[in-house]
Amino acid sequence: MKVMTVFGTRPEAIKMCPVIRELKRQPNISCKVCLTGQHEEMLNQVMESFHINADYNLHVMTQGQTLALVSGKIMEKLTRVYNTERPDIVLVHGDTTSSYIAALCAFYLHIPVGHVEAGLRTYNMQSPFPEEFNRRSIDLIAEIYFAPTELAKKNLLAENVDEQKIFVTGNTAIDALGMTIKESYSNEDLEWASGSRMLLMTAHRRENIGEPMVRMFGAVRKIVDEYKDVKVIYPVHKNPEVRKIADDVLGGCERIRIIEPLDVIDFHNYMKHSYLILTDSGGIQEEAPSLGIPVLVMRDATERPEGVEAGTLKIVGTKEKSIKNAVHKLLDDKSEYDKMSNAVNPYGDGHASERIVRILTERFGD
Ligand code: UD1
Ligand code: UDP
Repeated sequence: MKVMTVFGTRPEAIKMCPVIRELKRQPNISCKVCLTGQHEEMLNQVMESFHINADYNLHVMTQGQTLALVSGKIMEKLTRVYNTERPDIVLVHGDTTSSYIAALCAFYLHIPVGHVEAGLRTYNMQSPFPEEFNRRSIDLIAEIYFAPTELAKKNLLAENVDEQKIFVTGNTAIDALGMTIKESYSNEDLEWASGSRMLLMTAHRRENIGEPMVRMFGAVRKIVDEYKDVKVIYPVHKNPEVRKIADDVLGGCERIRIIEPLDVIDFHNYMKHSYLILTDSGGIQEEAPSLGIPVLVMRDATERPEGVEAGTLKIVGTKEKSIKNAVHKLLDDKSEYDKMSNAVNPYGDGHASERIVRILTERFGD
């Protein structure tokens, strides 16, 4: 069986690499890896951490790219790769433009698509934008669905997806965590933050760039001014628009460290050592519950309500006041903090990749 995995951004890579490792263990599977290169440095960091070499890299990224340009370039280049390789199945992950275009190209060539992390929904096309559209579109195309949770399966069934094609596997983010967390881990940033309460922050969503991000960072700046025992570490996304707002609002404060994106091994261990996490990321919402670190999600909607239900995540929007109030509560109220810092993991047992590969073999291997 010829399986091709196609992805192009950091979060897809983190959640697809455990699947690739499992595919490559199978003697009867030929596994090819094609990177779209929607991201560059942030993607390469993950590939290096998991020691995986790609067979193809379409190198589509440009600074400040538009989604239309990314889509057009992937479409043209990937069609040539598919025609050369003629895989039996293409695997894509999640909701990025790379995943959507990779699924669409496969559909045009009548190549079946497997969707890893299928079925997540906010039912709001503007949040996350354009990811809600991408994920739903991939689910129109897919031939086999790897839903991380029962809720994701329920969402697919409500859209009349054939139940025989849906498999609840857990999320491969948990598989990745099993490979990255180290019992004894330290480095210079963590030493700098020790003795303080460390807030770890990430922010990059397209719908937050501009005013919402100014408000989000404004809240963080004020919290640091108010609480002398708080330090912030912010590995800033490579997007130049995000970097500019970060420098303008957060620059020049000695208890805020704005650093380059961390490789996934470092980042997961920073998460484990933080007091709380502020983020608009999707993947971090899956990882934090199993580490028991409270997460304040700076978005208006989440496609990952399981973590909210488990108690580890709280949706706080992007208004300065609501973010500040939520952080104050976690800094001042121990019982509130303890309630949120229970490690309850609704996203699986760390064996999602094995399940996915077993199901693929049963369904598509001759
Ligand atoms: C993309 C995904 C988003 C995902 C995010 C993960 C879409 C529509 N968006 O958004 O779902 O949450 O990745 O981070 O697919 N850049 C670099 N080097 C890198 C990566 C990015 O310089 O390694 C800069 C470039 O200037 C690039 C810009 O960041 O043009 C934006 O990258 P892009 O992939 O278009 O958007 P993201 O916001 O990263
Ligand atoms: N992450 C990382 N280094 C960082 C910040 C995040 O490795 O400096 C990881 C994080 O653990 C999670 C993933 O990147 O697995 C989230 O990616 P991102 O926030 O870029 O995208 P999203 O999840 O929002 O799609």
